[in-house]
Amino acid sequence: MTKPKVFVSRIIPEEGLAPIRAACEVEIWQDELPPPRDALLTAIEGCDGVLTLLTDKVDDEFLDRAGPQLKVVSNFAVGFDNVDVAACTKRGVAVGNTPGVLTETTADLAWTLLMAAARRITEGDRYVRDGKWKTWGPMLLMGPDVHGATLGIVGFGRIGQAMARRAKGFGMRVIYHDLQRASKAVEAEYDATYMTLDGLLPQADFVSLHVNLSPETKGLINAERLGWMKPTAILINTARGPVVDSMALVAALEAGTIAAAALDVTDPEPLPADHPLIGLDNCLVVPHIASASRVTRGKMASMAAANLLAGVRGKRLPTPVNPEIYG
Ligand code: DGY
Repeated sequence: MTKPKVFVSRIIPEEGLAPIRAACEVEIWQDELPPPRDALLTAIEGCDGVLTLLTDKVDDEFLDRAGPQLKVVSNFAVGFDNVDVAACTKRGVAVGNTPGVLTETTADLAWTLLMAAARRITEGDRYVRDGKWKTWGPMLLMGPDVHGATLGIVGFGRIGQAMARRAKGFGMRVIYHDLQRASKAVEAEYDATYMTLDGLLPQADFVSLHVNLSPETKGLINAERLGWMKPTAILINTARGPVVDSMALVAALEAGTIAAAALDVTDPEPLPADHPLIGLDNCLVVPHIASASRVTRGKMASMAAANLLAGVRGKRLPTPVNPEIYG
């Protein structure tokens, strides 16, 4: 029996590659950088399934080039803003993602960013390495307390709620905003108070973003909303870069409209080394690593493989993004 033909657009952990190799005729993109568009489009021609990353744009052009035999696009991420899901659904192509397995790991990193920005960890490290540490300084690198502060969570899904669990341990007051208000039981579990965004932003000492990227959330944190925040507030973004207007953030950090930002995701992404955000001491940036623990990336790989294999076998994906294709 001929094996299904699949393309995997980067080397992912073996937990995902091993089952794919065993069941499919597979090409794996070997470079550390994503395949350039032309190479991607060539590689997917005639494929039954493609395992994509958030750096691969899946649109009509992609689907045309893959051909009508394409059954599944399995995205190695919980987010899928790189995939035109409606275009896939129209053609009966199943789309899969990796929800759940990265919730706690992503919240760990968001919490790390919150703590690091509050306590000025990267500035302190640079200060020591630059040979500036001459004495104990009573005024040196002071920042706000985390314990007892107010955390504003924007997007109260799985990861937002995982942030609330961490905040509880620090005795913080938790306020949240979401398009849909959480159930009374969830609010009670986290002692979390629902607010409109314009109610939340002026009250929060820390604002942590956990929304999907969509037309509604693109540019959500813009100049006007940054202006509603406290001058002492710290913004944390582990959601998607375009949720924040980058140039408005530069202006707010320079003017002291807010105190600091800590970003795992940026717009553009990657951020060029000469981008104004990188030149700011009150902005901490890491390269989109929120889910990057060994165990979690292994789980994501095995989940993405399970979606890919189910799809090429014509079965329902374990975690479909467009279940409507199954009627
Ligand atoms: C996702 O899964 O959407 C993250 O951004 C990468 O793990």
